[in-house]
Amino acid sequence: MALAAEISKNLKSLIQEFEKALDQASSLQEAEEARVDFLGRKGRLAVIMSQLPLLSPEDKPLIGRLANEVKDSLNQILNDKIRNIQHKAQEERLAVFDPSMPGRTPDTGTVHPVTRVINDICAIFVRLGFDIVTGPEVETDFYNFEALNLPPGHPARDMQDTLYISESIVLRTHTSPLQVRTMLKRQPPVAAIAPGKVYRRDSDLTHTPMFHQIEGFLVDTQVSMADLRGTLTAFAHEIFDPGVKVRFRPSFFPFTEPSAEVDISCVMCKGGGVSSDGGPCRVCKETGWVEILGCGMIDPAVFQKVGYDPEKYTGFAFGLGVERVSMLKYGIGDLRMFFENDLRFLSQFV
Ligand code: DAH
Repeated sequence: MALAAEISKNLKSLIQEFEKALDQASSLQEAEEARVDFLGRKGRLAVIMSQLPLLSPEDKPLIGRLANEVKDSLNQILNDKIRNIQHKAQEERLAVFDPSMPGRTPDTGTVHPVTRVINDICAIFVRLGFDIVTGPEVETDFYNFEALNLPPGHPARDMQDTLYISESIVLRTHTSPLQVRTMLKRQPPVAAIAPGKVYRRDSDLTHTPMFHQIEGFLVDTQVSMADLRGTLTAFAHEIFDPGVKVRFRPSFFPFTEPSAEVDISCVMCKGGGVSSDGGPCRVCKETGWVEILGCGMIDPAVFQKVGYDPEKYTGFAFGLGVERVSMLKYGIGDLRMFFENDLRFLSQFV
């Protein structure tokens, strides 16, 4: 057979053979193997085409054109096959995909009620010109007690069931050490609040070994008890309700003189002492008042410890329990709720 006829025959039969080879291929990988076999640099088409230079000048362009057509056909067949394989794969995926299933809602977190109240309280005091300060939870005896007018052996140390790390290192029992830390760093006028965790050796229905406090204080010349009253009354109106009544009751704290405790009219019974079902109000135990914080005028003994002149400066301080405020604000009856991380509880605070 003349060479031209033979090449032409071989070229044409490539198409059928390629189709056959691809019929066997069921994956992209196998299709690729067939492509290399037929269309690759050393593939069957290339081998046939390497004979073209041997053709006569008349045959060369004819066979050349045929070779190009065959090449196009092979590529066409290959592309169809690839599309076919991809389509099948897609169908297999869709066979197990149920578009009528409800979608997955992404879980969005909510802010814990303790964090929320801390944020709210901080925002109120920042608006009043207070800075936010923080300090260590593992504290020395000096900052936690001694500089706050609680020398060793002072009976008031028993008020706070301290967790000791060593004889002179404690887990802070209150955020009041931040008064001392801040005053040692800054000169008056200074106004700051200090939110944070505190620890006590105490655990029952109404006490947890860790809870949160916010300490606040302000020092300047001529700060009076009236400033304390005004500030804390404005705060109570802001955090609870402008309608709450606020009262100051004499009390005792070693680091303030005079000292007071602040009550607000009961948020549950509105001060009437009777709950909505007609029974006695359990939140205020029928008194109509609930305590929210301790406060007072900073004791000159504290000023002496931090090197402030007690003749020149006066100041007020207060400390409140965050969980307590949160319970009153959101009507939460059980302290344990804050620590159990039950999502049914937490997800209500959106
Ligand atoms: N540190 C006190 C406590 O934990 C709370 C307190 C009371 C802080 C009166 C004050 C204050 O700054 O003036 O029980």
